[in-house]
Amino acid sequence: MAYPLAEAGAPIGVFDSGVGGLTVLRALCAALPGEDFVYLGDTARLPYGTKSSATVVRYAVQAADELIERGVKCLVIACNTAAAAALSALRERYAPLPVIGVIEPGAVAAAAASRSARIAVLATEGTVRGGAYQQAIARLRPEARVTALACPLFVALAEEGWTEGAVAQAAAERYLVPLFAGSDAPDTLVLGCTHFPVLREVIAASVPEGTRIVDSAATTASALKLLLAGPARSGPGALQFLATDSPERFARIGSRFLGRAIGADDVTGVDL
Ligand code: DGL
Repeated sequence: MAYPLAEAGAPIGVFDSGVGGLTVLRALCAALPGEDFVYLGDTARLPYGTKSSATVVRYAVQAADELIERGVKCLVIACNTAAAAALSALRERYAPLPVIGVIEPGAVAAAAASRSARIAVLATEGTVRGGAYQQAIARLRPEARVTALACPLFVALAEEGWTEGAVAQAAAERYLVPLFAGSDAPDTLVLGCTHFPVLREVIAASVPEGTRIVDSAATTASALKLLLAGPARSGPGALQFLATDSPERFARIGSRFLGRAIGADDVTGVDL
């Protein structure tokens, strides 16, 4: 079925498996301060990164359906794992409604940042398995050598709020030091999971100085801005949050990802 396009004043739907996508929402709000956003975190079923592709597609469709029912004018899949598995399924399902993922924008950021064309993608198991980053970077820089590394523990650390200190540092070193051991080390790391930007400092402390670290947030915001081309709406826009598990926990943990306070009253529990 084809979905009618919502009017220009409708909100923008954004979703992730949990609070990670709030790192993207933060950039979207900064780039488009006049827009209204409704964000859904599927916290009850996190992590997506260790699930099969078929399961992630099913979850992503349910999350997106919930946002579509709320009349959003476009969708941002602020989850690399869901974008890798379900971008084309969601585009097909909701056409002509625009659907943006975070992988292409992340690849754009990496391709622009790397001088040596040696790029490492840090992501979930699901994103690594699908090869979506490797393919997206190859389209932009065919000469690039891309290593993709699954760092599932980073998701748990980020959700737990353990973004600094000995445990986070030890996990970062365990994952990253071997990446730089050979002569063919990357000069650019892509944070290919929207949970990872909150671990940027421990990641930076575990890799050689000068390594460029990029994520999808700013380039996704640029892609969305381009898509919504037209007169900028005057702000401030409204933010609405939906979570499939404890609104209180979402608000508490999510504030760090969004970079501003979220009240538990601002979060509505939903059952998908
Ligand atoms: N934030 C999600 C991503 O960008 C993954 C976290 C999870 O495993 O659910 O891939």
